[in-house]
Amino acid sequence: MATKNLFLLPGDGIGPEAMGEVKKLIAAMNDQMSAGFVTDEGLVGGSAYDAHGQAISDADMEKALAADAVLFGAVGGPKWDGVPYEVRPEAGLLRLRKDLELFANLRPAICYPALAASSSLKQEVVEGLDILIVRELTGGVYFGEPKQIIDLGNGQKRGIDTQVYDTFEIERISGVAFELARTRANKVCSMEKNNVMKSGVLWKEVVAQTHKASYADVELTHMLADAGGMQLVRWPKQFDVIVTDNLFGDMLSDVAAMLTGSLGMLPSASLGAPDARTGKRKALYEPVHGSAPDIAGKGIANPIAMIASFAMCLRYSFNMVAEADRLEKAIAAVLDEGYRTGDIMSEGKTEIGTAAMGDAIIAKF
Ligand code: NAI
Ligand code: MG
Repeated sequence: MATKNLFLLPGDGIGPEAMGEVKKLIAAMNDQMSAGFVTDEGLVGGSAYDAHGQAISDADMEKALAADAVLFGAVGGPKWDGVPYEVRPEAGLLRLRKDLELFANLRPAICYPALAASSSLKQEVVEGLDILIVRELTGGVYFGEPKQIIDLGNGQKRGIDTQVYDTFEIERISGVAFELARTRANKVCSMEKNNVMKSGVLWKEVVAQTHKASYADVELTHMLADAGGMQLVRWPKQFDVIVTDNLFGDMLSDVAAMLTGSLGMLPSASLGAPDARTGKRKALYEPVHGSAPDIAGKGIANPIAMIASFAMCLRYSFNMVAEADRLEKAIAAVLDEGYRTGDIMSEGKTEIGTAAMGDAIIAKF
């Protein structure tokens, strides 16, 4: 099998603990199925700052750019609260997203059967849920210019952010959503607010054009983003893939995530454009949670979000769909047997630590 280059950036807090379980999994896959993973490891966030005063070094950025995929743990913590803004831990992640041009953020909301009863929604609403939110990550109101606070001189100030989307940005994000839908239930729902926003009018128009030109086999619907939020909570199983802009995606993906349980369970992927020569997309996979300083170093962090992020890596960067399915089934099987880390613990279940959870999943894989 061809070599698969992974660049690991464990980061701070529970990042290295969660990544440790993925490293065991990678070693097992290399041993048992000659998967051909070659890993290299770098520093990011506070641990990078402590070592060399930057949130990520140029040398590690080079490695991230050259790798087939980047696996990222988590960064940050009170220890680095006072460090200068440009080199704070989060700056490392922002630089990775920017330099790798990771414009598509994928956030699945999957409901593991064993955890359906602990959702804040009724069990029948979330049981079997499997949706994917595709959020535009590098444009929109978070980046548009002008972006400033101006003094109006009459005792008033004005804060300005600007929502900007160009045709190519909407084309490429909707292209990702349609392609992913083809590997799933073949349905895309695009969400914007064309009733009050010009960028929403353009968004809807370009998504429809992209659909007609290249993806007419996929079922496409449009929904106003506020109604979409309502529908996500009312009956989320009506959706397969949701595609939306940076701001709406930020909120809707957090809503969707919480339908299914704890922060310790949620994976994500961020994808860039396909390379002109190889056709391979730049990609970074990371859990949604942060560095959890309150539990770091105790060996009790839930490694499932990190392991599920690696499952996304298998699926999207290496087309190892069968292995990704098996890994997700292994996670579900361990939960079915009643094993829980502290964050998802409930009465009558068996509480285990980070390493034991990793071992149990690998044993089922
Ligand atoms: P957090 O996600 O680190 O933790 C929130 C709560 O959830 C904590 O009580 C934590 O113990 C728990 N938790 C999170 N992941 C868990 C896991 N895998 N297993 C068990 N429990 C888990 O968010 P918080 O506390 O707001 O931020 C802590 C630090 O992480 C901050 O410095 C923040 O800036 C950073 N952060 C980094 C992110 C990243 O690296 N992408 C994302 C979010 C926050
Ligand atoms: Mg958010």
